[in-house]
Amino acid sequence: MLSLNTFAVDQCADAFMMLKKYSDILDAVQVESRPFILGGGSNILLTKDIDRLVVKNELYGKKILQEDDRNIWVQFQSGENWHEVVRWCVHQGWGGVENLSLIPGTIGAAPIQNIGAYGVELKDVMSALEAVDLTTGHVESFENVDCQFGYRDSFFKQAEQKGKYFIQNVTLKLDKKPAINATYADIEKKIKEKSINNLSISDIHQVVIEVRQQKLPDPHKLANAGSFFKNPIITVTEFDRLKTLNHEAPGFILDAATVKVPAGWLIDKAGWKGRRIGQVGCYERQALVLVNHGGASGAEIWAVAQLVQQDVLEKFGIPLEPEINIW
Ligand code: EPU
Repeated sequence: MLSLNTFAVDQCADAFMMLKKYSDILDAVQVESRPFILGGGSNILLTKDIDRLVVKNELYGKKILQEDDRNIWVQFQSGENWHEVVRWCVHQGWGGVENLSLIPGTIGAAPIQNIGAYGVELKDVMSALEAVDLTTGHVESFENVDCQFGYRDSFFKQAEQKGKYFIQNVTLKLDKKPAINATYADIEKKIKEKSINNLSISDIHQVVIEVRQQKLPDPHKLANAGSFFKNPIITVTEFDRLKTLNHEAPGFILDAATVKVPAGWLIDKAGWKGRRIGQVGCYERQALVLVNHGGASGAEIWAVAQLVQQDVLEKFGIPLEPEINIW
């Protein structure tokens, strides 16, 4: 499995198959009622062997379902690489996904955790998806609202649904006259640096790629799975308490009662940024990313993650929840 997960953890699976056509998933469930569905392997930490059949999604293809003067609806098969989807949309001049450039993984995995970056989430652009209920073999259609999207969360992440559905295709509603979303601080800064005027989606695509390359390690060079933890959402009272501990504590006000605090800042201030224990590191340019310097086991990475959780809890009283899936 080492080359199939971006944390480059070496664990074994009981059995393995490539999913090349839709009906293969129905064959797979004959062998294993809840197979382990693998997309890009970029949001998982394997702490032990996988005692079941692993199915690697290799369903490719796209088709235009509908269009009008303003929008175009394109359906993508779930094994398509997310960044390639973004690149293709930008090339067509169709906006909506450009802020989500360079996120690793497949489009089929994108709705599960409602991927997001630089002020945009998948929920803002996904119109519908089709998923196979592996317990019945039936294909079910989900509209955007049915997916119950939240911050790095969806219906498919709920404990009862885990492993129950195989997402077969995802339809994006793209904008032919795209509005530009460049309000995120890092993006604004880079645009100023490059003195770009009359921003296009292609400029945003390029700027997002550059910002990500500066802050986030390339998994091909330094194994990682992006943000390890979610940004915790705390109450205003808890935030006031945090401010008394460190008056510079950043927070993004969500509503009258809650504030989202950057986990990267908490981990950084707890002294973890750039630290290394054995082959496991806390990335030097973004403390929210744990990295495998080579040969670390999933259990070792998870042990360091738990030390980080414990330390942040002791220092700031805030629990951190993993953003990635722990197996
Ligand atoms: N910060 C620090 N020290 C650090 C890291 C961050 O002080 O080591 C501070 C930054 O200065 C900034 C704040 O924390 O004020 C937020 O940092 P950043 O803009 O890098 O974003 P983030 O909240 O850490 C989230 C997503 C990323 C996404 C970026 C950009 C989560 C869990 N992570 O990170 O998503 O790319 O915003 O939108 O929501 C991912 O999910 O794998 C991922 C990389």
